[in-house]
Amino acid sequence: MLEQAWNGDRGYCVPNRRSYPHLWLWDSCFHAIAWFAFGDERGLRELEAVFAGQLPDGFVPHMRYGRRTYARGPLESVSSFTQPPVYARALKAASDAGFAPSPRLLEAAGRALESLWRDRLRDGLLVIVHPWEAGTDDSPRWDSWVGSSTWNRRVWTSFDRALLAHTVFSPQGQAIDSPTFVVAPAAFNAIAADAASTFGELTGDAGWLARGSVLARTLDEAAWNAELEAWSDVAFTGGGDSVRVPTLDGLLPALCTPNATKASAALNQLSDVERFAAPYGPRFVARRHPTYNPSQYWRGPAWPQLNYLAVLAAKRRGDDELVADLAESTKRACVRAGFAEYWNPETGRGLGARPQTWAAVAAAF
Ligand code: GLC
Repeated sequence: MLEQAWNGDRGYCVPNRRSYPHLWLWDSCFHAIAWFAFGDERGLRELEAVFAGQLPDGFVPHMRYGRRTYARGPLESVSSFTQPPVYARALKAASDAGFAPSPRLLEAAGRALESLWRDRLRDGLLVIVHPWEAGTDDSPRWDSWVGSSTWNRRVWTSFDRALLAHTVFSPQGQAIDSPTFVVAPAAFNAIAADAASTFGELTGDAGWLARGSVLARTLDEAAWNAELEAWSDVAFTGGGDSVRVPTLDGLLPALCTPNATKASAALNQLSDVERFAAPYGPRFVARRHPTYNPSQYWRGPAWPQLNYLAVLAAKRRGDDELVADLAESTKRACVRAGFAEYWNPETGRGLGARPQTWAAVAAAF
């Protein structure tokens, strides 16, 4: 699948030729991790392609347009929004596979993280200004902003476009604020805290190690929800109850929390059939929640790239059984679903684009 999606001239895989003919930041990071699992140096090329879109101030766009499409912001060839900084994990995967990342790549990643800490920190947490930046585009966690707890294409498309129209952009063209949507998502912060620590370990830079642990502690203080045994998102502008919808990404701060009790309480739900565990799971939304819909985009289906992050969190806890379960159910699902973008966690039916290149990340579990 990676071979078929690889474009040597561009140096990256398009996620799916028809539905997704562009470069996406976190997709390419997961492709890189998959390449490294096969011992293939194209992972480094793919990461270089991610940073080829980097703005002079370090900001990394969530898309480089592969062909004409509607503009996500004022810039000509790249989006003005970002996505979770999975590149630090991809660089570690490179180094673990024996491909030393070049100084140029490391420097680009350092400047990218620096731009998040410089422009997106509020009360010690990193904020996003559009759901696209979380990567979980139509998650029920945004319902209070959308004003609806059911999914409807027209409503969501007009919400996305209205937000885009209201976004405040820096003179360089990157999104910096929004009058209606500013939120610190638990998962974005968890991935970023993990990125800072991972980057600090890779480069021996104590400053990044410290930033990673400060962010993880701040997230515990501001977002841990004892009743849910998960982390909520923290709304800064707009929002409401939906920040607490039990979603899989609300468990991901297990990746970075200094608190082992919290990490275990969160991760245990991945093995609980009444919560997230399903035959082809984990589910993205907990089973009994009213928004749970096993076949609707971001409202319940399982996602391979999130399963990979859950595996990293389970490894960090030393929970070998959970790692094995997640690996087994994800691989089984990938095969059954035809390496789909996402799938029904109850039946394994493939949904969205097929094949979708990030499913290859299952090879790295
Ligand atoms: C969708 C997903 C996003 C992903 C993109 C390309 O927009 O929500 O996370 O990066 O597709 O696969």
